[in-house]
Amino acid sequence: MAGKDTATIKVVDQLIKSRRTVREFAPDPIDDSTLRQLIEAAVWAPNHRMTEPWRFYVLKKGGEGRRKVSDLVHAWTLENTPNANQRQASADSARDELLESPGLVYAYALTGNSDEIAEENYAAVACAVQNLMLAAHARGLGVGWSTGKPCKPADLAAALGVNEPSRVAGCLYIGYPAKEPSSKRRVGSDVTSWL
Ligand SMILES: Cc1cc2nc3c(=O)[nH]c(=O)nc-3n(C[C@H](O)[C@H](O)[C@H](O)COP(=O)(O)O)c2cc1C
Repeated sequence: MAGKDTATIKVVDQLIKSRRTVREFAPDPIDDSTLRQLIEAAVWAPNHRMTEPWRFYVLKKGGEGRRKVSDLVHAWTLENTPNANQRQASADSARDELLESPGLVYAYALTGNSDEIAEENYAAVACAVQNLMLAAHARGLGVGWSTGKPCKPADLAAALGVNEPSRVAGCLYIGYPAKEPSSKRRVGSDVTSWL
C-alpha cells in the first residue's frame, strides 16, 4: 500500500503524541453510539491467531450494573486499605469516581488454552485499548485506563457477567476532559539500540 500523504501523517503522529490519560471529566454525557464507535475502533487491533480476544462490558451511567460494581470496589477498598485513617475516604472516592464517570467500560482478555496464548491475547487487548483511546481522543474525549482498585474485587467478573476464562485488562473511564493533563517521555533515541 502506498504511503499516506504528509497531512495525514502529521495528524496521526500528533494524535498519538497528544493523547493523555484523563481522570477528571466535564459532566457532559457520552452517547451510546459514540461508545460503539470507540469499541469498533478497538476491535481492529492486531491479534495473533485471530483470536479476537477482547470482550467489553459497558456500564451505563445510573444503571444497576454500574452501581453493583461500584459497591464491590467500595467494599474491596475498605478491606484492603492499610491506613485506617484513609480507608473510608479512599473507598468513597473510588466508588464515586466509578459512579460519576460519563462512560465506563471494562476490557477483558480471553486467556485461551495456554500461557503463551494468554500473553498474546492480553497484548492484543492492550492494543485494542490504545485504539479505543486514540479514537476517543480524535473525538475530543479522554480515557483513563486503570488496573487498580476497579479491577481488584474477586467478584468483579461475576458481576459483569464474564462467562469465558478471561483476565481483566482494565477499567476505562471515558468522558470529555475537564482539563488537559500533561505528560512527558524520553525520546525514542534514548531507548533504542541500532545493531
Ligand atoms: C496497563 C496500564 C494500566 C494503568 N493503570 C493505571 C491505574 O491503575 N491508575 C492510573 O492512574 N493510571 C493508570 N494507567 C495510566 C498511566 O498511569 C498513564 O498512561 C501514564 O501516567 C502516562 O500518562 P499518559 O497516558 O497521559 O501519557 C495505566 C496505563 C496502562 C497502560
